[in-house]
Amino acid sequence: MRKTALVLALPLFFTPVLGFDVAKLNAKKAVPYEQKTQEFRLPVGIDENGVIDEAKLGDSPYAKTVIYGAKLINETTRYLGPQAKDEKMRFAGNNLSCSSCHTSGGVVPDQSPFVGIYARFPQYVARSDQLVTLQDRINGCFQRSMAGRAIPTNSKEMRAMIAYMHWLSAGYEVGAKVRGQGLPKAQFLDRAADPKKGREIYAAKCAACHGENGEGIKNEAFAQNGDYYTFPALWGDDSYNTGAGMYRLIEGARYVKATMPKGDASLSWEEAFDVTAYINSKPRKIKPDRKKDFPDLDVKQMDMDVGPYNDGFDENDHRFGPYKRMIKK
Ligand code: HEC
Ligand code: HEC
Repeated sequence: MRKTALVLALPLFFTPVLGFDVAKLNAKKAVPYEQKTQEFRLPVGIDENGVIDEAKLGDSPYAKTVIYGAKLINETTRYLGPQAKDEKMRFAGNNLSCSSCHTSGGVVPDQSPFVGIYARFPQYVARSDQLVTLQDRINGCFQRSMAGRAIPTNSKEMRAMIAYMHWLSAGYEVGAKVRGQGLPKAQFLDRAADPKKGREIYAAKCAACHGENGEGIKNEAFAQNGDYYTFPALWGDDSYNTGAGMYRLIEGARYVKATMPKGDASLSWEEAFDVTAYINSKPRKIKPDRKKDFPDLDVKQMDMDVGPYNDGFDENDHRFGPYKRMIKK
């Protein structure tokens, strides 16, 4: 009995020196070459809304595959989701599209774009604590953001999405970073995020498009053309599951701060954190096995609301923050 008590006491004793280990994460991400940062730019044939001028691309197998890839990214549910005619093709479990989050098919800086992305994989990812390929990363979004299952890596559809990302990356040096990749860096609050405040922000600034109950607004012309949603669902069975990056508070707030309200992304960081905490307090599909995400606890993202942890903070702390105190000094 005494021995057990001692073992249990040890982590508590060490708590103050532990926490999210930025230095270790950087060491794990290290690459043995000089990593350049290149400017964000789009190839000829696509505009800043992600609209492709097919005539400019021609009709080579490469061009056709790129164009198909763009369709899959912008109207995912029509080809690879619940609306696909062939049941076997229903890999996504919700009616979002990749461009519900990767704005305009991934052509907007700071809104998780796909420009230059082909050049920066394979890449270390802390969630699985291993080097992952671009295909792995796409399938991560299929299983989590799209609440579905992985698509075969050698399928026509995976090749088309890869071709589209390859085209958006033409001319980028292998291994280079791109200015505007990913989402903006978060500015942490000194307090925990407050879903009650978030609820008011939601009513004032989000509900008009996404609905009182986060159900979104469907595109009535979907049968003819376009994406399934005009304004996508933010919670419930038709949105991302609890394994998605969007479900984690810091990551979700970074997206919301950078992009929403659509056309007028003017929230403060406080508002972005509070409203994201509210959205993520609503029910959605559960991703099983999340305890296995981030197996190296030293670099487990602070906004993971499922343990285990090695820093002495509990699931509630990790879910809502404040986060500054969780960073290893
Ligand atoms: C619910 C929102 C959402 C949806 C839908 C979604 N993603 Fe993502 N995706 C994210 C977030 C958030 C990230 C991480 C962003 C970051 O921090 O750079 C991400 C990251 C990625 C990355 C890695 C980006 C990088 O810069 O390293 C790829 C590739 C990707 N997603 C592909 C897809 C594809 C393909 C689809 C559609 C099948 C899709 N995603 C659907 C939210 C989403
Ligand atoms: C003017 C309409 C509009 C308003 C207002 C708006 N959104 Fe959106 N939102 C969109 C559209 C359209 C998309 C799809 C992505 C795109 O087109 O950029 C989207 C996508 C999203 C997504 C990712 C996709 C998903 O279904 O999860 C989140 C999260 C989100 N919005 C949150 C918010 C929050 C929070 C607010 C309020 C602060 C808000 N939005 C206000 C139109 C709007």
